[in-house]
Amino acid sequence: MSRPAPTASIPASADDIPDVPVLQAIGDRRTIRYYDPDRKVEEWKIQAVLQAGRLASCQGNINATEAIVVDRETCDLWDDIEECVSGFNVQMINQSSHIIFWLTNLNAWYGRANDGLSTLALSGALTKYHGWNYDFSMTQTIPRLMSFPTERTDLLLRFETGLAVSQAMMCGNALGLGQSLIAFGRKPGGIEGVFGLPPHYRFTWAHVLGYPLEDRTAGGQRPRLKFEKLFHKDAFGTPYMPDPEVNELLRAKGMLQEQAPLPGRMEELDALAERFGRDPGCVSWPAREIQRLMDDEDWDFGPRIREHAQSLLDRGGLPEYPEAMRETFVRLMEEHGLDTSKYLS
Ligand SMILES: Cc1cc2nc3c(=O)[nH]c(=O)nc-3n(C[C@H](O)[C@H](O)[C@H](O)COP(=O)(O)O)c2cc1C
Repeated sequence: MSRPAPTASIPASADDIPDVPVLQAIGDRRTIRYYDPDRKVEEWKIQAVLQAGRLASCQGNINATEAIVVDRETCDLWDDIEECVSGFNVQMINQSSHIIFWLTNLNAWYGRANDGLSTLALSGALTKYHGWNYDFSMTQTIPRLMSFPTERTDLLLRFETGLAVSQAMMCGNALGLGQSLIAFGRKPGGIEGVFGLPPHYRFTWAHVLGYPLEDRTAGGQRPRLKFEKLFHKDAFGTPYMPDPEVNELLRAKGMLQEQAPLPGRMEELDALAERFGRDPGCVSWPAREIQRLMDDEDWDFGPRIREHAQSLLDRGGLPEYPEAMRETFVRLMEEHGLDTSKYLS
């Protein structure tokens, strides 16, 4: 493994930090999967990312989200960490510069509910105007919160950790970093063991950071379901239709960007694979599966992805559907009351 260059010093002044408008930063965000192994993320950027997470909203100001920052050059636990990461993330952790392990401290809820609310009162955030009063807080609100079972607290606080991570990643993105969340599914419970986490700590997610080796657009914005398939207006089931004029404005602000795959993306991926001695190409799905997906009106597919899908269909040589697995998929979907004809060709 080559050694990253020494960490550059902090900027001489705040003016040296580029200003990226928030709508642009949201639009520019991509999951980056190729990192320059020779470029190390500056310590000040890591700290800025952590500050962004620390400033995220948290219920009652209890500060349950913590993190362990791992620098692959200095961390003695690297080999143990590598043993726990999911196989498809091994290349990513070894090319990236740092991993942030985001943790959720469940005991923050039980220990700091009182103090957190007190800090909000002292900072002019918790007011009588909204009905707060000390006596009610101490005899009703706080004891009720503290009596929640850990499963409920877990759900509430993990949601907060997700918020913190999202804010942290947006900051990293605005500072020009490439990032991805990564699963550590190879060894369940492994990371908790590697770091010797106390039982009230949850390892919520890991986040790699580095400088992108692929183009920053990572081949364009990845497709999503259509807006109106995700958002409801006034009642569940009533589609909220997006206004094309709003979309045009968001496009002009850089939030809505060109959809993947941009021209040259597949060639870029093959060149990266060749450089690192890895197999070229993207994974292929069977022809009928690609056709079914392209016909699914839930997805917001633009012309580029349709054109690419068609070129794969025309080229042929795609795999067969694993018929032996069909029954398993039918059962798994039916357990959840799903209409299997929607998801199976
Ligand atoms: C909680 C979470 C976990 C993820 N885990 C992984 C992962 O283990 N490996 C990976 O390559 N991408 C991972 N991703 C990235 C998603 O696959 C990615 O968001 C998706 O490819 C869409 O691309 P985009 O983020 O560029 O829009 C994860 C994303 C989230 C939100």
